[in-house]
Amino acid sequence: METIRHLTVAGSGVLGGQIAWHSAYKGKIVVVYDISDAAIANCRQMHAHYAAIYKSEVGASDTDIEATVARLRYSTDLADAVVTADLVIEAVPEVPEIKDRFYRELAPLLPAHTVIATNSSTLLASDFAEATGRPSQFCSLHYANLIWSMNLVEIMAHHATSDATLTLATRFVIETGMVPIAVQKEQNGYLLNTWLVSLLNSAQTLVTNGVGTFEDVDRTFLKVALGAKVGPFGIIDVVGTNTVMNILRHWGNVNQDEQMLRNAAYVQGHLVDQGRSGIGVGAGYYDYPSPSYQQPGFLDVPDISAVASIVERVRPNRE
Ligand SMILES: NC(=O)c1ccc[n+]([C@@H]2O[C@H](COP(=O)([O-])OP(=O)(O)OC[C@H]3O[C@@H](n4cnc5c(N)ncnc54)[C@H](O)[C@@H]3O)[C@@H](O)[C@H]2O)c1
Repeated sequence: METIRHLTVAGSGVLGGQIAWHSAYKGKIVVVYDISDAAIANCRQMHAHYAAIYKSEVGASDTDIEATVARLRYSTDLADAVVTADLVIEAVPEVPEIKDRFYRELAPLLPAHTVIATNSSTLLASDFAEATGRPSQFCSLHYANLIWSMNLVEIMAHHATSDATLTLATRFVIETGMVPIAVQKEQNGYLLNTWLVSLLNSAQTLVTNGVGTFEDVDRTFLKVALGAKVGPFGIIDVVGTNTVMNILRHWGNVNQDEQMLRNAAYVQGHLVDQGRSGIGVGAGYYDYPSPSYQQPGFLDVPDISAVASIVERVRPNRE
């Protein structure tokens, strides 16, 4: 096989939905697979939303959008979803047990030639290589969120990934208009999430421990980060609070990091359990489509009348 024509994306959530849409836009024939009918329905809605974004921001014509839609198919039957797959990109939740179970279910259903890639944010392909039943045909392809503007894929091998697999995967990345980033050693978090997870966790610690409000943490970031447009809590909303919670909980448990576990519990209690799963549903830390950090005045010197409310928050708690 010289090139990937048929792609199956497993997991139709935030990232799976984007990878599927974008790859179809770039000419690949794509099946979107999920275990849940509700998730597939939501993904179809997101694809309609992406169609509008690709027209307004990427320059897609009506014909391009019709062709993209024609190349997409949706399924909740795994055997059906992978029957023609040259490549399966796994984008199921960042929970090792779910991924492991998925690969074991997938293994006996795949055509012999099919290559698999995980889009995991922080886990290693090594962790699942045995479960895939085809370690040499398995690697990591990690996409950045908001794929149409942040067109970046980190390519990472594990000890048994073959050169042929890496060649196919890298070709696929370039053919679909993504900037390939070579991760030269297998490492949890690649080049991007190694620092991004630390940033988000540190920001969340400030809020969990009541040191500052999420808006003030973002304000400090936006003021000093040389033209950044989104702060850590705006990023959490883009990533999705479920995925952030899963990552904090997993690494909190692995590293026995009590603060990280408290951060996971905070995100669950204040956001996930309240249905505030992020920008996709219009609510996370911020409310969309007009989050306060994008409002005029967010970074301005406030009116003098703000003094009392600021003093009230800064003064020591003398109870
Ligand atoms: N959100 C991000 O910014 C981002 C960026 C890069 C990578 N990732 C990674 O991509 C993966 C998915 O993250 P997400 O944010 O899209 O999650 P998500 O929660 O938005 O979506 C996960 C989807 O997987 C489905 N699912 C659950 N079990 C499944 C199974 N056994 N088979 C098929 N589908 C199943 C769920 O129904 C859901 O639709 C994770 O590994 C995450 O770390 C996320």
